[in-house]
Amino acid sequence: MTAPRQTQRLSADEAGIAAAAELLRAGRLVALPTETVYGLAADASDDRAVASIYAAKERPSFNPLISHLPDVEAARRQGLFDAPALALAKAFWPGPLTLVVPASSSCTVCSLARAGLDSVALRVPSHRVARAVLQAAGRPIAAPSANRSGRVSPTQADHVLADLDGRIDAVLDAGPTAVGVESSIVACLGGAPRLLRPGGVPRPALEAAMGQALVIVEDGGATPIAPGLLASHYAPRAAVRLDAEAPRPGEAWLGFGPEPNGALPALAFNLSPAGDLTEAAANLFAAMRRLDDQRPATIAVAPIPLHGLGEAINDRLRRAAAPR
Ligand code: TXA
Ligand code: MG
Repeated sequence: MTAPRQTQRLSADEAGIAAAAELLRAGRLVALPTETVYGLAADASDDRAVASIYAAKERPSFNPLISHLPDVEAARRQGLFDAPALALAKAFWPGPLTLVVPASSSCTVCSLARAGLDSVALRVPSHRVARAVLQAAGRPIAAPSANRSGRVSPTQADHVLADLDGRIDAVLDAGPTAVGVESSIVACLGGAPRLLRPGGVPRPALEAAMGQALVIVEDGGATPIAPGLLASHYAPRAAVRLDAEAPRPGEAWLGFGPEPNGALPALAFNLSPAGDLTEAAANLFAAMRRLDDQRPATIAVAPIPLHGLGEAINDRLRRAAAPR
């Protein structure tokens, strides 16, 4: 991906909304207002666009992202809603609530945005401008908060620019956000619904709508929940051998950059022959799944540099390689 050189400030009128949707449809990055905080938005169905979110934020690991939809019907095409999830959607959408549900068979959110999980995080925001952009974009839009990793979430376009000017294509400026804290995140994955992150909808209101108590996941909104889920939900069946110079007999091969000398196994995939880390990140989860589906005993992985998105790629690969 070529880095954008100048970040446009779009006004929240018809022309600005149309321009933002057009950029998103072209795989570009746009910071969008929601009623909670500004989100760093990209086409959730496009692995490369999603990879560029992590690159712009300098995220050290691939946390799964929230996908935003214009209405409940669109959200229900992406995920499977059980009774508590339906009750919450009915009560609080559009609004500051995110639901983590099993991905549906027609889910178009790419595997990178889901961090390789079988679940998907969905949100229907109530902000007028956000909904107009989502409607015009016509696809799920992934958006973490529009700050650099480790900084606080932005509630004004100026905060976004302070962190991301020159790293994204545009910010759609609709003034300060109303809620100011992120959405509440509830996981409805069968069994008791779990509160992964307290947020814009108070817990008693969530529990009242469902008619049942939420299981509280300690520190659910911070980083631990995602890696924890990654380890338990998605780990390849194959053993993973990292920093391999070349595949050994019988191993599947996950390459990066120029291939080693000698014949490659039939079961091989190169994350980026050109050695582009954004392309590699975009391919990572789908490639691991594709290799693992053929049931190799071991997947050997070429060394991947540690700079830029390489840090997140290596983090994810180390988790995949951890003994189970
Ligand atoms: O208010 C908000 O929620 C803002 C606006 C932009 O929508 N977004 C936001 O996104 O706060 P972010 O990326 O900063 O936080 C998303 C959280 C992360 O903690 C992530 O671990 C969790 O959602 N998450 C996403 N998908 C998940 C999944 N499938 N399972 C568990 N947790 C998930
Ligand atoms: Mg955040």
